[in-house]
Amino acid sequence: MKRYVHFPRVEGQASRQAHADLPAGTFEREISKEGFFGPAAHLYHRHPPTGWVNFEGPLRPHAFDCTKLGGAQTSPWDAPDLLYNAAVRVRFWRCDTHMPALVRNADGDELLFVHAGRGELFCDYGHLSFEAGDYLLIPRGTMWRVECAEPLHALLIEATNNSYRLPDKGLVGPHAIFDAAMLDTPRIDEAFREQQDEKEWRVLVKRHGRISTVTYPFNPLDAVGWHGDLAVVRINMRDLRPLMSHRYHLPPSAHTTFLADRFVICSFVPRPFESDPGAMKVPFFHNNDDYDEVIFYHAGNFFSRDNIHPGMITLHPGGFTHGPHPKALKNVFQQAKPATDEYAVMIDTRDALEVAPAASAVEWTGYVDSWKGAR
Ligand SMILES: [Fe+2]
Repeated sequence: MKRYVHFPRVEGQASRQAHADLPAGTFEREISKEGFFGPAAHLYHRHPPTGWVNFEGPLRPHAFDCTKLGGAQTSPWDAPDLLYNAAVRVRFWRCDTHMPALVRNADGDELLFVHAGRGELFCDYGHLSFEAGDYLLIPRGTMWRVECAEPLHALLIEATNNSYRLPDKGLVGPHAIFDAAMLDTPRIDEAFREQQDEKEWRVLVKRHGRISTVTYPFNPLDAVGWHGDLAVVRINMRDLRPLMSHRYHLPPSAHTTFLADRFVICSFVPRPFESDPGAMKVPFFHNNDDYDEVIFYHAGNFFSRDNIHPGMITLHPGGFTHGPHPKALKNVFQQAKPATDEYAVMIDTRDALEVAPAASAVEWTGYVDSWKGAR
């Protein structure tokens, strides 16, 4: 067990409760270790911590526009890498057809988030339909393919050499946020039996990032049944029931949906704004220096960010102080709307991410300047 130097105290003019009752005219900044779980301090600044006039050098926030990425691919292995490190690989895939071959990821579990589209997934475990907002968790080694009724736009998040798990819900118990009974699994149904045939099928296996092709003289998705506690699972983001407090702005970690050893996936879904007059209503300024933070914007209006539209990704590397954009800053303690209407997927990685060339090609380089004028 880790032991930290631990000595909570208050110095000068400060609130005793984080994210609430700030000294008049101040801006709160959190500096924390271990995501939002380790030692932390809250500093009360006279100026917004993102009120810089210039920013030079390699440490900078990035914004990428996935809607500007190239055409569709029939295999997810042809989808471009966007961000990666040894523990996670993030890609964006468009598919507008029936996949002509099966695929199998031997490098790690794959989490597929359906940004747009509708269709059918056929895999070792049977048949499952998908639609926008779905998470499809595909265990490492599963053979699968999709048939698209409407073009699929998907974020692919590979837990490299690792497995996805569900978070510990702690004080609020295992049925909060979503009940594990809400996870759908594939069925051995009529549609699954109908796709079984004796024609030649190829399986494109990805291992160490390289593709091998296994050819069968029949469709290997030929199971007549299965039992166990390992399968593809599906849950739609709209079925999540977010935690919130009317008196306290919860950190993003309260919205953890899946996790692996070196990163977590959080889901932001609509929730009421805090109603306590002293409670902050927008994310606090922070340095989350132990993590790189990635957000994929799926739908709605992103209340704390300007100039961001659905299909965009932002990357805030560890060491970069960030917080609400100037427009959102006006609403720290007062919101015109009763609730947020944003849907977004957050990926927080314990190790620094690399930006792949495909992401650089669709980067909005002005993002770093979008905090200017935060006074
Ligand atoms: Fe953050």
